[in-house]
Amino acid sequence: MGKRRDFIKKIGIAGAAVAAGSNTLMSSNSTPFAILKRDRLFNTDETVNIALIGAGGMGSEDAKTCLKHDGVKLVAACDLYEGRLEKAKEEWGEDIFVTKDYTEVLSRSDVDAVIIGTSDHWHKQISIDALSAGKHVYCEKPMVHSIEEGQELINTWKKSGKVMTVGAQGTSSVGNEKAKELLAEGAIGKLNFAEGFWARNSPGGAWQYPIPDDASEDTVDWKRYISNTTQRPFDKLRFFRWRNYRDYGTGMSGDLFVHLFSSLHFITGSKGPNQICAHGGLRFWKDGREVPDVMIGMFQYPDVEEHAGFNLSLRCNFVDGTSGTTYLRLVGSKGSMDVQWDKIVLKTNEEQSADAFLEGKLEDQMDQGPRKKILPPNEIIYEVEEGYKGAHYDHHGYWLEAIRTGDSVAQDPVFGFRAAAPALLCNDSYFEKKFINWDPVNMKLI
Ligand SMILES: NC(=O)c1ccc[n+]([C@@H]2O[C@H](COP(=O)([O-])OP(=O)(O)OC[C@H]3O[C@@H](n4cnc5c(N)ncnc54)[C@H](O)[C@@H]3O)[C@@H](O)[C@H]2O)c1
Repeated sequence: MGKRRDFIKKIGIAGAAVAAGSNTLMSSNSTPFAILKRDRLFNTDETVNIALIGAGGMGSEDAKTCLKHDGVKLVAACDLYEGRLEKAKEEWGEDIFVTKDYTEVLSRSDVDAVIIGTSDHWHKQISIDALSAGKHVYCEKPMVHSIEEGQELINTWKKSGKVMTVGAQGTSSVGNEKAKELLAEGAIGKLNFAEGFWARNSPGGAWQYPIPDDASEDTVDWKRYISNTTQRPFDKLRFFRWRNYRDYGTGMSGDLFVHLFSSLHFITGSKGPNQICAHGGLRFWKDGREVPDVMIGMFQYPDVEEHAGFNLSLRCNFVDGTSGTTYLRLVGSKGSMDVQWDKIVLKTNEEQSADAFLEGKLEDQMDQGPRKKILPPNEIIYEVEEGYKGAHYDHHGYWLEAIRTGDSVAQDPVFGFRAAAPALLCNDSYFEKKFINWDPVNMKLI
C-alpha cells in the first residue's frame, strides 16, 4: 500500500480514486494506473450463528474474518487438541460450547452454519454430516481428500438445499473479478497459455510447524483423528504436521495448486483440464515426509464453449531462493495478465500484429534496411483501493449473503470439486508416473 501511495504522489494524482474498469489514470512518464473498488455492501438482515470445527491456524482465521461481518455470532468450537479448545475460549468467551466430537456441534439447534478448518482428510465427512444436519457449510480447500469423495458430497449438498462454499478465497477478490471482466472484454485476446507459481523457503513455509510441549494422547484425541484412515500408534508429527503425510494431507498441489485452479476457473469460466501430468521430487525437506517439496504440473484444457483450448503449467518450490514469489499469469494472443487477489498487471502488444523479430530478420537478410524495433508492451496496473478488506473478508461475505438471501455462491461444491480434482490428480500422476485423463464436465476419470 505504501508503495502505491508513493506512486500516486509521484504522478500527482493523490486522492483521486476511480472505480475499476470505469477509468484509467494516465501518466505521461509512468505506468497507467487504475484503482479497484469493492462498492457493494453485504446484506446483514439476520443474525447467523456459526460454529467452528477444526480450530487450528486457518479455521481460527476463518472464524475471525467471518465475525468481522455484522450479524454473526460464534456459539461453539470443536477441535481434537485440548490447547486449541482453550484458545478458542480465550478468543471467543468462556460461554461458548466446546467439544472434541463434531457431531455434538451439529446436533445443536443454535448453530446455523459451520466453518470446517480441519486437516483435509475430514473435509468430506464433516461437510456431509453438517449438510445432512441442516447446517450451511464453509469448508476449507481442497474440498475433498481424494477424487472418489467428490460426487457423494455434491449429491448430499444438492439434496440439502443449504449453502456450501469452499474456502479458496481468491475467487471472491476484486482482483479476480476484474481479471474475469478484462478477459471477457478481450483485453489479452484469445487465451492460449496460463502459468502459476508458488515459492517458499522456510521451515514454516515447508510445513515444519512447531509441536506444542504438551502434545500427547492425553491432550489429543488421536483415535478420533485416525478413525477414518490407516490405524497407527500416536504420532505427534502426523497430527501437528499433517500436510506431510498422505493419509491426512494432499501435498503441494492439494494445498496450493488448488488456489490457482480456483482463480483460473473463476476467471475463465472453465470446468477444468482433460489431461494432467506432474513431476517433482523431495529435494531438501527430508524429514520423513511422504510428499515432494518441488512439483511441476502440466494441464491440457480442451476447446469448449467457455474458452478455446489452452495449456497450463503450475509449479511449486519449497526450496526456492526467490521465496515469496507467487503468481498466476494468463497469456493470450494480444497480451498477458498477472493476476493477484489485490492487483493485476495487464500487458498488451497490440501494435505488433506480426512477429517483429522475424520480420526484422527477414528484412535484414533481404537487405531492405535496418531491423524493426521491437516495441515494449503497454502496461496498465490495477490495484485495490486503500482500506480494501481483502479476498477472505469478501469470501465470507458472499457466503453469509447467500445464507441470508437464498442466493448461490460462485465457489459451490461443483466448482470446489472441479478445482480440487486436477490438484489431487497431480499427486496421482506423480506417484503413479502416468498421464491422467479427466472428464471435467461429468467430473469423472476416463
Ligand atoms: N484458504 C487458505 O488460504 C488456507 C490457508 C491455510 C490452510 N487452509 C486449509 O485449512 C485447513 C486447516 O489447515 P491449518 O493450517 O489450519 O491446519 P491446523 O493443523 O493448524 O488445524 C487443523 C485443526 O483441525 C483439527 N482437526 C482435525 N481433525 C478434526 C476432527 N475430526 N474434528 C475436529 N477437529 C479436527 C486439528 O485438531 C487441528 O487443530 C486445511 O484444509 C488447509 O488446506 C486454507
